[in-house]
Amino acid sequence: MPTEEKIRGKSRWVVNQMDSVPGRFEPDPSRDASEFDGLGFSRSVVVNLLAKGGCQSAFSVMAATRISPLDTPFYQTADKFFTANSKVGLTFDVITLAALYSEVLPRETKLDITLADGLQLNIPIISSDMDTVTESRMAIAMALNGGLGLIHYNMPDREQLSQVSRVKYHVQGLIQEPIKVSPDQLIGDVLALIEQKKFGFSTFPVVDAKGIFVGLLSGHVVKPRYATKKVSEALTPRKQVHTITKKELGKDPIARADKFFTEHIGIHKLIVLDEDDHLLGLITMSDVERITQERKAQFKPARDAQFRLVCGAAVSATRNAFGELDRERILTHAGELVERGVDVIAVSTAHGHSKGVGDMVRVLRDAFPKLPIIVGNVTSAAGVEYLADCGANAIKVGQGPGSICTTRIVAGVGIPQLTALYVCSLAAKKKKVAILADGGITKSGDIVKALTLAQSVICGGIFAGCTEAPGEVLEISGKLYKSYRGMGSLAAMKSGSAARYGHEKADTTRKLAAEGIEALKEASGPVDRVLAQLIGGIQSGMGYLGAANLAQLREKARYIRVSPAGQREAAPHDVVELKTGN
Ligand code: XMP
Repeated sequence: MPTEEKIRGKSRWVVNQMDSVPGRFEPDPSRDASEFDGLGFSRSVVVNLLAKGGCQSAFSVMAATRISPLDTPFYQTADKFFTANSKVGLTFDVITLAALYSEVLPRETKLDITLADGLQLNIPIISSDMDTVTESRMAIAMALNGGLGLIHYNMPDREQLSQVSRVKYHVQGLIQEPIKVSPDQLIGDVLALIEQKKFGFSTFPVVDAKGIFVGLLSGHVVKPRYATKKVSEALTPRKQVHTITKKELGKDPIARADKFFTEHIGIHKLIVLDEDDHLLGLITMSDVERITQERKAQFKPARDAQFRLVCGAAVSATRNAFGELDRERILTHAGELVERGVDVIAVSTAHGHSKGVGDMVRVLRDAFPKLPIIVGNVTSAAGVEYLADCGANAIKVGQGPGSICTTRIVAGVGIPQLTALYVCSLAAKKKKVAILADGGITKSGDIVKALTLAQSVICGGIFAGCTEAPGEVLEISGKLYKSYRGMGSLAAMKSGSAARYGHEKADTTRKLAAEGIEALKEASGPVDRVLAQLIGGIQSGMGYLGAANLAQLREKARYIRVSPAGQREAAPHDVVELKTGN
């Protein structure tokens, strides 16, 4: 193997050879081999070919892999591109990325990212801390897929603590709060419930007023013909139902349940109880089969050092009656979150580059020196520097790009997202912190573009229609929807998020100025399905750029602006669309 020094020497030699080819790459002879990466050469190609002594073949392969000077005036690096476009705010649809020579197959790309010491994700996707996006179900689904959910704070502190516990103590495959019915209900009531809530199942555990499991109501008796019968008349009694205690499930509940289903032909549900017959949950055979399949998946769940799912929680910069930062409340709640095992706290506000937010981060950093802290939102390098100096590990970038945001309309403030990300990335590099692209993402291609500048993305709208998002499915003209609202919408602020936008929830003397809207999202099914599409798109983008991992994606990206006609060209056009890509 050649030494680093030899590689450097030979690299220069090869560069000089190429130098002599008219109209080709013009290198700076003072550059060393490490710079080849940034110039579009695959370092492994350089090293391998030079190690084999094949300077001639190195020359021809590199000619194929290099960036041609014919391309460079058009497809520019981030520094050149954003500097050249410094007078205009750019966002996702008005730029596109140029493909590069690639030896990378999309399915082999790696998506793991470390956002802070002790906070590693296997995919760079975070669900927003919004009350119509992330509670424990969403956070569990995100972590199981390798990402992270930030539990919102529009709820009492105690409730947020139990949401975090639900994620941290989630037993994969165990439905912790199955829908239950009571012995006194009529089958007709159960049928109405199924219809009203659009349940896709009809078997229910039956519990009495004390939460004791008394039997199972099987789907085959939940029929209109039995509508006037009581659940107690139709249920399969406790002693005839297969049950297991949580203790018996042991360390690998899925393997234990899998064995149970194999041994008990035709049984598809296993009831989990505590020692006193209180219902703890339900395991279904279909979930066990899906999880067993998922264990072979490329992207593993994101877990902490104790093998629990990762979970984040948002906190706001609350003030006491004197208008001062409420240190006591903030520290008590943060301490309890840490006790429950929270992996990261997100200080979520609309204007992160402000004294109150900086003070709050300092308070948290002093009290919890090792706790990963996310803070936001900002759109300037000064904002990133300020929050990094206060102690943040990862900084949310985005003011007004969100699908439900009206900040730019109401306050006249905010920066189109890609320009904001580039400017913030300059400060983030300097301060060695991560930035998170928060808001405005509507498709996987947007994520690829965001990840050329940021370490991860935060999405609200994309997940708000998922089964795991809080809220019920609504049927309107035969279509299914879920509600999605900005945390700065009037309704959300009244439920608690006013502090995020610098207002007082109890302030009835004047109208709160909403910076978000209330909306609907089409129901989009389980998070697994949505994430599979997004991840596929990210991997595809990385394949086009020859990027084997996220660091290479950031390093290799080349940009160009897109004209309005180019934007139309980018979407399906001049056809009658029969099926969407998804
Ligand atoms: P997407 O585009 O994913 O955006 O739906 C989600 C992000 O939007 C931010 N957010 C708001 N911004 N007014 C705003 O200006 C609001 O009411 C509001 N609510 C959420 C937030 O950063 C979120 O992650």
